[in-house]
Amino acid sequence: MKPVNVGICGLGTVGGGVFNVINRNQIDINARAGRDIQITHVGARRDNPNCDTSGIKVSRDIFAVAEDPDIDILVETIGGTTVAKDLVLKAIANGKHVVTANKALIAEFGNELFSEADKQGVTISFEAAVAGGIPIIRALKEGLAANKIQWLAGIINGTGNFILTEMRDKQREFADVLKEAQELGYAEADPTFDVEGIDAAHKLVILSSIAFGMPLQFTKVFAEGISKIEPVDVSYALELGYQIKHLGITRRRPNNGIELRVHPTLIPKSRIIANVDGVMNAVLVKGDAVGPTLYYGAGAGSEPTASAVISDVVSVSRNVAVAESNSVPALGFSSANLCDYDVLPIEETETAYYMRISALDKPGVLSKVCQILSDAGISIEALIQKEPLEGQDHVPVILLTNRVIEKQINAAIEKIEALGSVQDKVVRIRVESLG
Ligand code: HSE
Repeated sequence: MKPVNVGICGLGTVGGGVFNVINRNQIDINARAGRDIQITHVGARRDNPNCDTSGIKVSRDIFAVAEDPDIDILVETIGGTTVAKDLVLKAIANGKHVVTANKALIAEFGNELFSEADKQGVTISFEAAVAGGIPIIRALKEGLAANKIQWLAGIINGTGNFILTEMRDKQREFADVLKEAQELGYAEADPTFDVEGIDAAHKLVILSSIAFGMPLQFTKVFAEGISKIEPVDVSYALELGYQIKHLGITRRRPNNGIELRVHPTLIPKSRIIANVDGVMNAVLVKGDAVGPTLYYGAGAGSEPTASAVISDVVSVSRNVAVAESNSVPALGFSSANLCDYDVLPIEETETAYYMRISALDKPGVLSKVCQILSDAGISIEALIQKEPLEGQDHVPVILLTNRVIEKQINAAIEKIEALGSVQDKVVRIRVESLG
């Protein structure tokens, strides 16, 4: 059978990993694909000292790969959404299948790219765009195809999870841990994408569309990062029996809408996902037939991400042999059957809440706080109040509430912050039982 020719654009952390893993595991990969997969062209602005490209065409202009008539599959690992988008469109226009690790590109421009790919009869695959090496996209599209997915919740940013874990275990400074994540190749080019929840939002939008069968709706996702989490909240959460994790959550609503939100979340320590630490990712998916299922693995890094990219290359290579019956649709649902569900505004979401209030240490303050909550119909499930530290007149009051609609808690927090006896903003973190 004719070999499949692969062109790799970008030979950095991920592209370099793809290059090396394909070469290292060539015999097994070819046996799985049922034909030879060969890298024949690399487009990269500079060489990667870890990749031996001798005997392979190398172009400094990545568009030369998209124009190369011998290339069947173009692997895009340059990142970003400007040049990468033009490159992918060019490859599609030239009849090439595309494999990409680029979550921002898929989350923000996927609808347009899928439609172009459909017109040209080629596929866009993006297993590596979500949760690095975990085959979660294939699990949702194929392994769980029997199910009505009810909800999913994932730790889908390795850098954020690495930072929260180091803060909890070693009391390290936020900036120091972030720097290490960058050196290890985990962090995004712009690390605010990791710490402000944008990277996780890109990934969640992709998962949500595949889980529920709807067009990608990146502009509707609510995203809150971990940059405001303080070590003291991690400690109080532990004392209450919870871990703080940065989760992406999407859930089907009874009225045909969905929730789509990324934020720090307290989850019970007893849940397996609460114990996923370091750069590892995990996605918990609840299907109506299968029940809860959990997928765990490295969410970032060169070869874990390459593993997912190459799985797409193998899958496309198998399908090239049966051309017309080609593919599972990009989002797993045929495009005619996608449904544009309403995304619930975050103010309408219902969760329990962790609150840390800095209250003046004098009689009656706690009772005023409790009165405000009680007037709003909010019940207190747990409460911690410590003695003030020496020389301080304010004490932290930690509360866990019952489940309540977000706008109600917002109104109550506004009233609590207006009390003369409360200083600073109230720290508020959502709580999910994930049961
Ligand atoms: N910056 C991302 C992360 C890389 O930390 O998870 C993988 O998408």
